[in-house]
Amino acid sequence: MQTDFMESQTRSNLMKAFAGECQSRQRYYQAALIAQQEKMVGIERMFRFTAEQEERHAMVYFKLLKEAAGTQVNITADYPADVFYDLQQLLDSAARDEQNEAEILYPEFARIAREEGFSEAASKFEMISKIESSHRERFLYYSELMRSDKLFRSDSTEEVWICLNCGHIHTASEPPGTCPVCNAEQGYFIREKEAPFTA
Ligand SMILES: [Fe+2]
Ligand SMILES: [Fe+2]
Repeated sequence: MQTDFMESQTRSNLMKAFAGECQSRQRYYQAALIAQQEKMVGIERMFRFTAEQEERHAMVYFKLLKEAAGTQVNITADYPADVFYDLQQLLDSAARDEQNEAEILYPEFARIAREEGFSEAASKFEMISKIESSHRERFLYYSELMRSDKLFRSDSTEEVWICLNCGHIHTASEPPGTCPVCNAEQGYFIREKEAPFTA
């Protein structure tokens, strides 16, 4: 039997999730701006790419609140105050926040939604928790590259790099200091296998 939505825990969990996603999106946009200032374009794009996905998650949760339309939903929740200006810290804290959503928060919200009879909300929490887990992997991947000074250095001389500005392909252990085609700085290069839309 379904709990009355307006009396349910799921209603406030959806609002908490909405608030959390809006904040993740904003944190990642801010991180993208810091990366942009440091001319780390690959990292900047990765944060923006993820921020856009958080925005979609916020919309998914917000739509599920339609039964509460026109009302106020009061929530109490903890949200991360990750005020960092260092890319390494930003990547690490993003990975931590994603882990919390993926492994603790959303599985718990999904369980409660199932108990209360809201199967659509439950399955969105479950599916989005898997996405957050993939976000965590992505942040950890870049965090590790940065920590080991391998963002622009590979152990393989066959590494394929792509310039995010013009698409120039360069095969070597390191990307060029500036792109020979468009003069973009090294920060524009990422491994080709990390590029979107590569076959
Ligand atoms: Fe999200
Ligand atoms: Fe995420």
